Amino acid sequence: MAPAQQPAYPDVAAVDAAVARLRQMPPLVFAGECDALKQKLGAVAKGESFLLQGGDCAETFAGVTADNTRNKLRVLLQMAVVLTYAASVPVVKLGRLAGQYAKPRSSDFETRNGVTLPAYRGDAVNGFDFDEASRIPDPQRLVEVYHASAATLNLVRAFVTGGYADLRQVHTWNTDFVLGSEVGRRYEKVAAEIDRALTFMQAIGADPDEFHRVDFHSSHEALILEYEHAMTRTDSRTQLPYDVSSHFVWIGERTRQLDGAHVELLSHIQNPIGVKLGPTTSADDAIALAGKLNPTNEPGRLTFITRMGAGKIREALPTLLEKVDAAGVEVAWVCDPMHGNTFEASSGYKTRRFDDVIEEVQGFFDVHRSVGTWPGGLHVELTGDDVTECVGGGEELNEADLADRYESVCDPRLNRVQSLELSFLVAEMLRHA
Ligand code: PEP
Ligand code: CO
Repeated sequence: MAPAQQPAYPDVAAVDAAVARLRQMPPLVFAGECDALKQKLGAVAKGESFLLQGGDCAETFAGVTADNTRNKLRVLLQMAVVLTYAASVPVVKLGRLAGQYAKPRSSDFETRNGVTLPAYRGDAVNGFDFDEASRIPDPQRLVEVYHASAATLNLVRAFVTGGYADLRQVHTWNTDFVLGSEVGRRYEKVAAEIDRALTFMQAIGADPDEFHRVDFHSSHEALILEYEHAMTRTDSRTQLPYDVSSHFVWIGERTRQLDGAHVELLSHIQNPIGVKLGPTTSADDAIALAGKLNPTNEPGRLTFITRMGAGKIREALPTLLEKVDAAGVEVAWVCDPMHGNTFEASSGYKTRRFDDVIEEVQGFFDVHRSVGTWPGGLHVELTGDDVTECVGGGEELNEADLADRYESVCDPRLNRVQSLELSFLVAEMLRHA
C-alpha cells in the first residue's frame, strides 16, 4: 500500500538532495525535552493534569514573524492561566507550531471556475496561489520548513524563558485588550487575583524565580514521511531514535491506518505521540493502534485526540472510552472540537460555529464523566489575531463578517476573543470534571 497523503514530487533527485541537506541539520528539539514532555503527558493520562494544545491549522512561511508568533503564544499563555487558575489543575502547554506546514487533503485536486489544479498541501509541499507553477510540489520547501521551524522555535524559547511568560506579566499580556471586550475584562479579574496570590506567595518566602519561566513544547502533524525520516536521529544517551523536528508529533485521521507508513514511522520513535480519532473509529481500531504504538503501555507516550463533531460525540465516544479503558490502555484523552465541525458558509468560506465547538467540548466532558475516565485536554486551531474565520462567540461574528479578515490558508481558527472565551467555558467544565 502506498503511503497516504504524500506529494507526487516530479523530481526525485531533488527530493534526495533536500533529504540529504535535512540530515545534516542540527536537531530542532532535544530528546531529553521530549522525555520531559512525555512525563508531563503521563500526568495527563493519569488524570492529574490538563493539556492545552493549540495553534494554526496550517502555518505559512510568510507567517513566520515576531508579531504572529508572540500573539499566538500570548493567547495560549492567557488560556493556560485561566484554565490553571479557575480549575486549579496543572496545564501542560503545547503549541501547534514550529513545524505545522503540511496538510492532508480529502481531494488531490481543487477546481475553481472550471480550472483544476493539484490541491494546496501546505507550505511544506507547494504554494497556496492558484496557478500551475505554485501547485507543483517542490522538495526544497522541506528545507524551508526546517528554517521556518527553527526561527519560530527560537523566538518561542526566548519568550518562555526570557521573561515574557513570567506569571507576573499576566496583566501585560492583556493590556491592549482589556477595555475592548467583555472577556478581556473578565480575564483582568483573574489576573488581579493571580497577582494577589503571587504577592502572598512571595511574602511567605516563595522564590519569585519560580514564576519566571514556563514549560512550553512544540508539536505538528507528522505527515510528510521524507521530512520526518530525515529529522529522526539516534539519541546519544539512549541510542534510541527520536524525531527531533518537534517534541510531540501526531498522526491525522486520514493517515492512521494500522498497517500504514505513518503508524509504522511513529511506532519507531521515542517521542510522545498522538493519533486523531474520528467518529468512525471502532474501539478495536483504537486498541490495536495503542498496541502497536505503545506496546509497553507507558503513560504519556500516547494521546488519543478525538474529533467527533458536536452532533456525534455523545454517540461515538462512550463505547470507545469504555472498551479502551476496559482493555487497560494507558492513554491521554484530548478533545479536538474543530475538525468534526467544519462547514461551508453560503459565501463559500470554510467556517465553524463557536457554539458547536463548545457543544463538542461539553459532550467530551459529559461522556468522560459518565464513563469515569479523565477528560485530559483540548486541541484547538487558533490564532492570537482578531481574524474572522469562525462564527459566533461573544463578538457574535456572522457569516457576512467572514470576509472582513479571513486569513487562514486551510481551516478556520478561533480568534483571540473566541479562544479566551473558550478557555473560561472549559475552565468551568474542568472545575466540575
Ligand atoms: C488537522 O489537525 O488540521 C487535521 C487535518 O485534522 P484531522 O486529521 O483530525 O482531520
Ligand atoms: Co485543520
